[in-house]
Amino acid sequence: MQTDSSFTFVLFGGTGDLSMRKILPALYEAHRAGGMLADNGKIVAVARHVADRAAYIDWVNEHVKPHVSKNGVDETAWASFLDRIEFVKIDLGNPEDFTLLRDALSGRPGIRVFYLATGPSLFVPICRALASVGLNENSRIVLEKPLGYDLKSSNAINDAVGEIFAEEQIYRIDHYLGKEPVQNLLALRFGNVLFEPLWRREWVESIQITIAEELGVEARGDFYDNTGALRDMVQNHLLQLLSIVAMEPPHSMDSDSVRDEKLRVLRALKPIDPRDIGKVAVRGQYHAGVIRGSAVPAYATEPGVKPDSTTETFVAVKVEIENWRWAGVPFFLRTGKRLADRVAEIVVNFRAVPHSALGASALRGGANRLVIRLQPNETIRLYCLAKQPGEGMNLASVHLDLAFDRFFREGQMEAYQRLLLDVINGRLALFVRRDEQEAAWRWVEPILNEWAAANKPPKPYAAGTWGPAAASAMLAQHGTCWLEEEN
Ligand code: BG6
Repeated sequence: MQTDSSFTFVLFGGTGDLSMRKILPALYEAHRAGGMLADNGKIVAVARHVADRAAYIDWVNEHVKPHVSKNGVDETAWASFLDRIEFVKIDLGNPEDFTLLRDALSGRPGIRVFYLATGPSLFVPICRALASVGLNENSRIVLEKPLGYDLKSSNAINDAVGEIFAEEQIYRIDHYLGKEPVQNLLALRFGNVLFEPLWRREWVESIQITIAEELGVEARGDFYDNTGALRDMVQNHLLQLLSIVAMEPPHSMDSDSVRDEKLRVLRALKPIDPRDIGKVAVRGQYHAGVIRGSAVPAYATEPGVKPDSTTETFVAVKVEIENWRWAGVPFFLRTGKRLADRVAEIVVNFRAVPHSALGASALRGGANRLVIRLQPNETIRLYCLAKQPGEGMNLASVHLDLAFDRFFREGQMEAYQRLLLDVINGRLALFVRRDEQEAAWRWVEPILNEWAAANKPPKPYAAGTWGPAAASAMLAQHGTCWLEEEN
C-alpha cells in the first residue's frame, strides 16, 4: 500500500507509558514496513520534563526501542524513523506555550493529528489551548480511553471537545477494534453464508465473551484503583466486542454503516434492574496466588492501591439484547486480572439437536459450538460431534480448526498500527462514535451506582484461578459453564 497522505502527528504525553509501549512502536512498524507513511510525515512529541530534541531521542532510544518489533530492530529503519521525530517542550498547564506548537507546525503540508495520550482530565484543557492558537482546523484529535468516569463526566468531555472539533475530526480509540481477529469476525460473519442463518436465537443458546489477563495492575495501581474492571474493560472493549458479535449485517463497511449497526445493539441492551444486580453481575478482587509457578501478591498490596480497596479486578455479567434476533439469549461477559490464563475469546454455544436418532450422546454439550479465539493465537474452531471408530454409534466431540497463522504468515498488524494509520488516512470505522459511547455508559451506570451504594467488598479470588466461584454459579443457573483451558 503506497500513501501520499502528508501528516504531522503530534503526540501529547510523549514520554508516557502508552507512547513508550504502543504508539511509538506502532509508528516505527509502519515506517519500517515502507510505503505506509508518507515520506515527509513527521512526529512531533510534546512533553514537559525533557530539555530538547536530543534528550527526547535519548529517551526514545532507551525506552521505546526495547518495545519495538518482536523480530528485532532494523537499525537502518530505526535511524530513519528517528529522523521523523521532532520535539516541542510544552507545559500543558501553561496555555501560552501552545504558540510554540503553532509556530512549529506552521506551513506544514497535510493533515495534523493530535494524539492525546494523557489522562482524561487533560483532554479539554488541551483542546481549548489548541483552539486558542487556531490549531483545531484541518486537524484530527485522538482520545484515549477512559473517556470519563461515568456518563456525566464522559458527556462533559464530549460536549467540551465537541465545541472545538466536529465529530468527524474526533477519533475515540478502543484498541480492541484494531485487532486483526476482530476484523476477521466481520469477515467470518458477513463474508460467508454458512454462519449467518444460524446466528440468532433459534439456533444459539448462549454466547460467552471472555478477556482474561494473567497480568496484574503493573505500574498503574493508582489509576486502576480509581477505575476498576467494569470501567476499564466492560464499558468499552467487551461491549464493543458484543456489539460486533450481535449486530445486523451493515449495508457497507463505511464508517457510519458499521457504527449505526453497533449502536443499535448497544441501545437494545436490556437495562439491568438494580434489584437484580446481585444475580446478573459478579465482582471480584484477586488475593495472593500463583501464576505459572510464581507467587504473586494480592491486589490490595500492589503499589498505588489502597490497602482497604474495594475496587474490582474481575467482572462477570449477564447481558440480554432486546430485539428479534437475540431475545432470550444470554450473553455472558467476563474479564479479570491475574486469572489462570491470558485469553480473549468468543464462544457461541448452539442449541442441541431437537431430537436425536443417534442416542443420548448426540445431545451432549461441548459440540455444536463455535470458538473464536482472538488472542493469544488466533483460531476459529467449530466443534461438532463425530462417530467414534468401531462398533456401535458412539459420538465424540471433534473440531474443525482454522489457525490463521497457517494460512497467513505475513502482514499481521498490531492494533495500534492499524488504528494510527486509519487516523492518518481519515478512516473512522474502527473508532467509537459519541452515541455508541453514551449508550455503553448508560447501560453500565446502574451497575456502577448499585455497587457504589452497596459498598460491599468484592468477592475474593486467588490469583491464578478463573475468578470467584459466583461467576460459575451464575452460568450454572442457565445450565452452562465457562469454557476454560481450551487450547
Ligand atoms: C486496556 C486496559 O485498555 O486493555 C488494560 O486499560 C488491559 O487494563 C488492556 O490490560 C488489555 O489489552 P490487551 O490488548 O493486552 O488484551
